[in-house]
Amino acid sequence: MQYVVQPSTVAAAAVAVPGDKSISHRALMLGGIARGRTRISGFLAGADCLATLAAMQAMGVAVQRERPTEVVVDGLGLQGLHAPSGPLDLGNSGTAMRLMTGLLCGQPFDSVLTGDASLTARPMQRVITPLQAMGAAIDSHDGRPPLTVRGRRALHGIDYALPVASAQVKSALLLAGLQAAGVTRVVEPAVTRDHTERMLRAMGVEVVTDGARIEIAGGQQPAGCDVRVPADLSSAAFPMLAALIAADADLTIRDVGVNPTRTGVIEILRAMGADIRLENPRRFGDEPVADLRVRASGLTGGAVDAGLVSLAIDEFPVLFVAAAAASGSTEFTGIGELRVKESDRIAAMAAGLRALGIDVEESDDGAVVHGGRFRGGIVESRGDHRIAMALTVAATVAAAQVTVRDVDAVDTSFPGFADCLRSLGVDIRVGEDAAA
Ligand code: S3P
Repeated sequence: MQYVVQPSTVAAAAVAVPGDKSISHRALMLGGIARGRTRISGFLAGADCLATLAAMQAMGVAVQRERPTEVVVDGLGLQGLHAPSGPLDLGNSGTAMRLMTGLLCGQPFDSVLTGDASLTARPMQRVITPLQAMGAAIDSHDGRPPLTVRGRRALHGIDYALPVASAQVKSALLLAGLQAAGVTRVVEPAVTRDHTERMLRAMGVEVVTDGARIEIAGGQQPAGCDVRVPADLSSAAFPMLAALIAADADLTIRDVGVNPTRTGVIEILRAMGADIRLENPRRFGDEPVADLRVRASGLTGGAVDAGLVSLAIDEFPVLFVAAAAASGSTEFTGIGELRVKESDRIAAMAAGLRALGIDVEESDDGAVVHGGRFRGGIVESRGDHRIAMALTVAATVAAAQVTVRDVDAVDTSFPGFADCLRSLGVDIRVGEDAAA
């Protein structure tokens, strides 16, 4: 599929965006190994989380979907999962693959984890190495999926300093640590999203956080609980930017998760001059939530604080578009991790912005984006949901029609994205990809 976007006028609007992807994955996995029932409301019914849902079902977990976003999970307990009858296909989802590797290495059966062309090219050694140190047995293809996780291993806790800031690796170790003898200690080089820690605590598990160190003692049995999933700030970032770069917009996005380990995008945009307010702050369970109020703002480039990278890790595609629409130049540093996401996001955004007339300089772990005016053209998503959506937002203020090709992956995190933009006033048509 492709999007064909005309220059559009975004004005005043209130929109909702789907549930948080990270929290939805965790609610399914932790719900599956909890004792008792976990009721999830606001679940993200996108392809990534549906892959996790199918994997949990394949291991015997009873999952009922009362509505697409209302899910009830009857947990089997920490050691109650059943051997799946075949490989678990996790589609495009790095989160599903890495967290599930931690979850499955302490189970009493073998399992095979696989995924699509993007996922099977992504690095998994970062979870394999520490899990092996805990006693796990995992085979890979040179550090890449498919992974064969051999169960029936006695795991033991370790002290581990993460070489890369990664909530996925941290979470995998906490899930393995839950099933290990003794205490597992993880030290992060930079703060990453802490949804796993919060949800484990909500399920009655003691997780101790002391600065950059997180500790969990093995053998604790999570208890099912109600999980109300906030709207995903990483999805909200797209309509948010569409409003910021419009001529005169005033947008409200309701019920957005504003966990401080996720709000780097707001801080970075505010430093560029964005008018973003958090209204009606409250909590959904253990997660802070607010309504975001966003007004069109003149943005100015500058050096982006590298200390905020791990708090905005999924928002760099959208931040590249902000930089391209800003006056002056914006320098991104310390973003090398973007090269091993669903695509090489530095290269994908540089190519996409250049195709729209923007000057971008790339380095191994950074980029300089020179602000300018987008022209019309044809851009490629490289099969990456966030690249597709970021370039679509750029298209709303382009001088002429923009075609964004290969947008099927948008469904992994933001089903209804085109409708959301339409409700902002964007002229966007969805059609079959034209032949190259
Ligand atoms: C996620 C963590 C991040 C992020 C991904 C979701 C999670 O990955 O990019 O979209 O749910 O834990 P890393 O932890 O590998 O940076």
